[in-house]
Amino acid sequence: MNRIGIIGVGYVGACTAFALINNINIDEIYLYDIKKDFLLAQKNDIEQAAMINKKITTVKMAELKDLLNCDIVINTASAKVLSADRLKELDNNKKIIFDIFSQFKGYQGIILNVTNPCDIVSKLIVDASEISPNKVIGTGTLLDSLRLKSTISSLYKVLPSEVEALAMGEHGANLFYAFSQTTIKGKPFFSYLKENNLNYDKELFNKEVMLAGSNIFSVKGRTEYGIANVTNFIVNALLKTIPTAIPLSAKDYYNDKLIYTSRLVLISNKGYLNDIKIVLSDEENAKLADIRAKQYAILYLN
Ligand SMILES: NC(=O)c1ccc[n+]([C@@H]2O[C@H](COP(=O)([O-])OP(=O)(O)OC[C@H]3O[C@@H](n4cnc5c(N)ncnc54)[C@H](O)[C@@H]3O)[C@@H](O)[C@H]2O)c1
Repeated sequence: MNRIGIIGVGYVGACTAFALINNINIDEIYLYDIKKDFLLAQKNDIEQAAMINKKITTVKMAELKDLLNCDIVINTASAKVLSADRLKELDNNKKIIFDIFSQFKGYQGIILNVTNPCDIVSKLIVDASEISPNKVIGTGTLLDSLRLKSTISSLYKVLPSEVEALAMGEHGANLFYAFSQTTIKGKPFFSYLKENNLNYDKELFNKEVMLAGSNIFSVKGRTEYGIANVTNFIVNALLKTIPTAIPLSAKDYYNDKLIYTSRLVLISNKGYLNDIKIVLSDEENAKLADIRAKQYAILYLN
C-alpha cells in the first residue's frame, strides 16, 4: 500500500495529485492545505477524476498529523508566487516551512520538496523537521535538465530521446549546464556539434533554457505541468528498492555546514543514497563551488 501526502493544493500540488491518480503504483493520496474550502473543492475534483480509472486511487483530505503515516510527503506549500525569481520567495516561504515541518519530528518517510527556492527550502525542511537529510530530497534541476534536453532537441533537430542533458547547481537562476555530461546520439555534446558542423551559441542557449520557465510564468503567472510530471517520476524512483540516477537536490556540505545542491544522485526507497561519480570540467567545478559558496552565504551569513 503506497500512501503519498501532498502539502499545498494550489496549481503545482493539484496538478501533481492529478498525475499521481494516473500512476498505477499509488494507492492513496492525502491532501493538505491551509485553505480548507479550497482543499475540499480540489479534493473532490481530483477524486472525481480518479473514478474513470480501472484502478481507483483513494483521494482524502488530511490534517498534518495524517501525513506522518505517508511513505512520501510532497511539499508545494507557498505564499502566492509573484515573480519567476525563485529566490524572492524565500522570505515569505520561510515561516510557512517552519510552521509545517516543525510538526514532522520523528517522521519515518521521505519528504520531496518542490517549493521554491527549491534547494534552500529543502535545507530548511531538514532544520525544521530534524529528520535525516538523507530523507529530504528536492526536485532540483531535473526540470531544468529536461528543459535543456528540449532546447537541444529543437535547436539541433534531433529527437529528444537522442539527447541526455544535465543541469546542475540550484534550480532557478543559479544553475549551470554540465555540457561535459551532455550527449547527442550517444556522442559528447561538443564532439557531436563539431562532427556535424553545428555551432554552439552560448547566449542563445542561455536565453532559451534559462527563460524556459519564466517565459511560461510571464504569460500564465505559474508553471505546473512540467513540475507535476517530474514530481510523479521522482515519486516512482523513491518507491523502488533499486536505485535510480536523477539530477535533483540533495544534501551537500560547505565549510562542514549542511547545504542543498542539485547534482546527479542515486535515490531509492531509502531516500538519497550517494552521488554518481562524474568528471566535470574545471569550469563546471568552479561554477558548482561558486553556487555552494553563494548558498552557504544565504543560509549562514545573513
Ligand atoms: N521546483 C520547481 O521546479 C517548481 C516549479 C514550479 C513551481 N514551483 C514552486 O511551487 C510552489 C507552489 O506553486 P503554486 O503555483 O502551486 O502556488 P499556489 O499559490 O497555487 O499554491 C500554494 C498553495 O500552498 C498553500 N499554503 C500556503 N501556506 C500553507 C501552509 N502553511 N500550509 C499548507 N498549505 C499552505 C496555499 O493555500 C496554496 O494553495 C511555489 O514555491 C513555486 O515557485 C517549483
